[in-house]
Amino acid sequence: MRLSDFLKKQGTEKNLAELILFLGRQSLVVKKGFLTMPGKGPEGERTRNVFGEEQMPLDKYADGVFIDALRQARLARYIATEEQEQIIEIPGAKNDFGIVMDPLDGSSLIDVNLCIGTIIGICPGNVLDKGSRFLAALYILYGPLTTLTYTTGKGVHEFMVDESGEFVLRHQDLRIPDGKIYAPGALRKDWIPAHARWIEDLEKSGYKLRFSGSFVADVHQILHKGGVFTYPGIKGKDAGKLRLLYEANPMGRIIAEAGGAVSNGKEDLLNIQPASISQVTPVYIGGKKEIALIEKFMREG
Ligand code: AHG
Ligand code: MN
Ligand code: MN
Repeated sequence: MRLSDFLKKQGTEKNLAELILFLGRQSLVVKKGFLTMPGKGPEGERTRNVFGEEQMPLDKYADGVFIDALRQARLARYIATEEQEQIIEIPGAKNDFGIVMDPLDGSSLIDVNLCIGTIIGICPGNVLDKGSRFLAALYILYGPLTTLTYTTGKGVHEFMVDESGEFVLRHQDLRIPDGKIYAPGALRKDWIPAHARWIEDLEKSGYKLRFSGSFVADVHQILHKGGVFTYPGIKGKDAGKLRLLYEANPMGRIIAEAGGAVSNGKEDLLNIQPASISQVTPVYIGGKKEIALIEKFMREG
């Protein structure tokens, strides 16, 4: 079944369905950029985003593709992305939607051709909103197949691009299974004690290491196979690295809808009111039991 038919069948509100389909189409334009964009920009043209990270040509290209297309189509009022310093407001927008986006996740893997993705959350209005209030969350994974996984609060569903460039149903009503994969970000030497104890516990229970450098790819694997991803708060950087708006909340919303959970180690991330668009947060995302365990260890100190 095609994504457009599936959205209709689910009774998705018309404007929201149109926006999801539109974003899916833009991801195909982004994918075309893989053929021509170099992994790194030429020296002298390299720039950094507000997080101090070097922007790859594909980061800027993907950001531009989504923003330009949304400006033209006017399907949302606000856009906040990892590559922009400020919220963009679209004059004459047809809808009040706010979009939060990591246009290209896993940038360090572009030049080696490993899986990367796009992460998007759709808010009812203002982008400074809790993940629990998202109307939809989706991600596109550029892997051997290009897939789009989304939720509008009625299950988590995965579509893939077929030969004709259509998104067609691949998995309906995904539920995160029990599984023993762990994907731990950051350096072991910087882990705080509760986090280190938790990792030790997972390792003793036989969890296998799977960390690629792309949040979206690692969480996608965990959605299918179970387990947990973390990019924790660390010594000297207790707020962690990943972005609450652009990464943690949209992926968290999807995993929560699939029966998992997302936390900063202390509380459900989806209930946190963001203070700024560039807020970063420790992230624990995956199965409920792994998240309950880190929260227990954090409480114990
Ligand atoms: P981005 O490519 O959007 O900057 O995100 C990179 C993120 C995330 O995808 C990944 O899990 C993490 O950063 C990897 O960080 P390290 O290189 O520190 O492992
Ligand atoms: Mn990212
Ligand atoms: Mn990014």
